Order: sequence, then structure tokens, then C-alpha cells
Amino acid sequence: MKALLLVDHADEKLQLTEVDRPEPKPGQALIKIKAAALNRRDQWCREGKYPNLVYNCIMGSDGSGVVESVGHAEDTSWVGKEVIINPNINWGYNSAAQSPDYRLLGMPDNGTFAEYIVVNVDRLHSKPANLDMEAAAALPLAGVTAYRAVFTQGHVKSGDNVLISGVGGGVAQFAFLFSVAAGANTYITSSNNQKLEKAIELGAKGGFNYKTVDWPKTALKQTGGFDVVIDSAGGDQINDFIRMINPAGSIVFYGATNGLPKSLDLYRLFWSQGRLQGSTMGSDEEFEAMIAFIEKHKIKPVIDSIRPFDDIISGFNDLKDGKQFGKIIIKIS
Ligand SMILES: NC(=O)c1ccc[n+]([C@@H]2O[C@H](COP(=O)([O-])OP(=O)(O)OC[C@H]3O[C@@H](n4cnc5c(N)ncnc54)[C@H](OP(=O)(O)O)[C@@H]3O)[C@@H](O)[C@H]2O)c1
Repeated sequence: MKALLLVDHADEKLQLTEVDRPEPKPGQALIKIKAAALNRRDQWCREGKYPNLVYNCIMGSDGSGVVESVGHAEDTSWVGKEVIINPNINWGYNSAAQSPDYRLLGMPDNGTFAEYIVVNVDRLHSKPANLDMEAAAALPLAGVTAYRAVFTQGHVKSGDNVLISGVGGGVAQFAFLFSVAAGANTYITSSNNQKLEKAIELGAKGGFNYKTVDWPKTALKQTGGFDVVIDSAGGDQINDFIRMINPAGSIVFYGATNGLPKSLDLYRLFWSQGRLQGSTMGSDEEFEAMIAFIEKHKIKPVIDSIRPFDDIISGFNDLKDGKQFGKIIIKIS
């Protein structure tokens, strides 16, 4: 079967090649992948910036497909079902934080950028009825990360003033859609005015280009401040967010694309009773709750593009350059 491997070659770390098709053992299922989606994590792996890299494994955390066969007769009811795959492996029993054995599907375990994948049957979920295979493939990693950041950590509710930074991002577009669906007054930032306009069409109350110097002042004046900020860029901008939150407001961050801040305005943070809250992925329960939320509100992920498997590396390149708005989907079969 065709698969995209992470390889340790000097010039290019990705290789689209032929590998053996896996066989399911008892408790597992073989899925024929229909669509997969890219995440920033995949590009971090390509750039050698992800911890504990393992080479010659199949990449990809997100996928939708059809169950082809199972390893044990008791699971035959799954055969023929359209599914999405929960990429959590070993979250554990504590909903507050993942176990030390936690990892994500796709490096080191063989992932979804392949014509077939074998996963444990308990990782399977029926595809949401309101989504086709391509849209469903957008959900897993970005959807659960956004769900936990917005609801479990950010406690976003109707009427809150919420700021989602970098709305072009795969996780950020879900955080934005979830916040709008929850009835919050949702504002966004982006480096690109067209992305801001598109988000306003989709329900944002307003948007700010974070490349403009005075955007935090404008945002504060226009909105009166934010109850919750959801961010993955990190860097020095965190101090702007500290200035922009309302008393007892929260900044939830699930990434640090731009690295660490040179300083942190702790004076203002403690005086405003503010909260700086880290967040990563989400538990299996949050994965289920995310799917239920998507179905209830009939949410359709923002999809940047759908590309053939043979063009998957162009998707990595666009992600690297930040060109996308929403999820880059790969049609596998
Ligand atoms: N903790 C977790 O479980 C988890 C899960 C998924 C992702 N992450 C991390 O979260 C980050 C985003 O991941 P992703 O998959 O959503 O990536 P992505 O699709 O590549 O999105 C990255 C987006 O970041 C935005 N951005 C860049 N610089 C910014 C800045 N200074 N201020 C605000 N936004 C900025 C850009 O938005 P515009 O295009 O709108 O300018 C860009 O599109 C990465 O660091 C990733 O490793 C963590």
C-alpha cells in the first residue's frame, strides 16, 4: 500500500512509498483510509523540532475511513462502518492531565497517511452524520484540542467576550467555530485580512490583524476587554493578552509557535486575578463530547483545500508558510 514515511534523509524527511499492508490482531480493526488531515505537528516532525522522533514510521494523526476487517469475531459489527479515529493513545484515567504513557497516533505509531491503518477498536467512532469523509477527517486532533481549550479550560459560555488568536490555524478555526456556537461574542486575530473577513462572515464579531502595531489598543477600545483568550502563538504577545483580559479573565494556550516571551507581566496578571492556563489535546471523554457538540450544532470545519495523496508534501509546505485558512485535507482513496 502507499504511505508517507518520516525518513532520515539529508534533503527531505518525507517519503511517499510502498509498504506492507498491516493485519489486525484481536481487539484491532483494519481501516481503509478515505481522507486524512495535516497538523502543525507533522511539519514539526519534518523539521526535526518534535521530541523523540522515530524514523521510518507512517505519519498522520487524523483520518476517516471504512472498517475493512477486524481481528476478532466479537467486533464484526464494525465491519463496513464509516468511522473517524481517536488519535489519543493512553490518555489514562485522570481527566485533568494525560498519563506519562500518553502519545498521539502517527509517530511513533504508524499513522493515517496511508491507504490502510490498524488501530485498536476502542479508538473508533462513527463518522458524524452531518459531515462527509473529508470534513470528518479534519476533526480528531485539532477538534479535541480546541474543545478542551475552549470549554474545559476556558469555560467559555454564552455572552462571554472571547478572543481566538491566529484564526487561520487548524486548531484555532475549531476554537472559533466552537466559541461562536456556544453563543460567545467571538473576536479573532490573523496575519491576513482575507482570513479575518472570512471569519467575520462565519460569525466573528470583529477581527484584528496582529501584524499591525496598535492592534491590542484597538481591540481593547472596540471590545472593552476579553473574558477568555485562546492562543497557540505564545512569544511576547502574551503580555498584550494580559493587558486585554477583563478582571478574573483567562488566557488558555495550547502551543508556543513563536517560542517563549522575553518577560511576563506577572504584576498585571496577579492584580487582575488573571489565569494563564496550559492545555493539551483532550481526554477520550472530551473527544466524544467534541463529536457530540459538532453534531448538535451542525458545525462544518473550515477546510482550506482537499488534495490528492500524491500532493501531500505541498500541504506540508503551505502549512510551513502559514498560507492555509483551516484544515488541509488529503484524499487518500
Ligand atoms: N497542545 C496540543 O495538544 C496541540 C495540539 C495541536 C496543535 N498544537 C500547537 O498549536 C500550534 C498551532 O497548531 P495548528 O495545527 O493549529 O497549526 P497551523 O494550522 O499551522 O496554524 C498556525 C497558525 O498560527 C497563527 N499564528 C502564527 N503566528 C501568530 C501570532 N504571532 N499570533 C497569532 N497567531 C499566530 C497563524 O494564523 P494566521 O494564518 O491567521 O495568521 C497560523 O495559521 C502549534 O504550535 C502546534 O504545535 C498543540
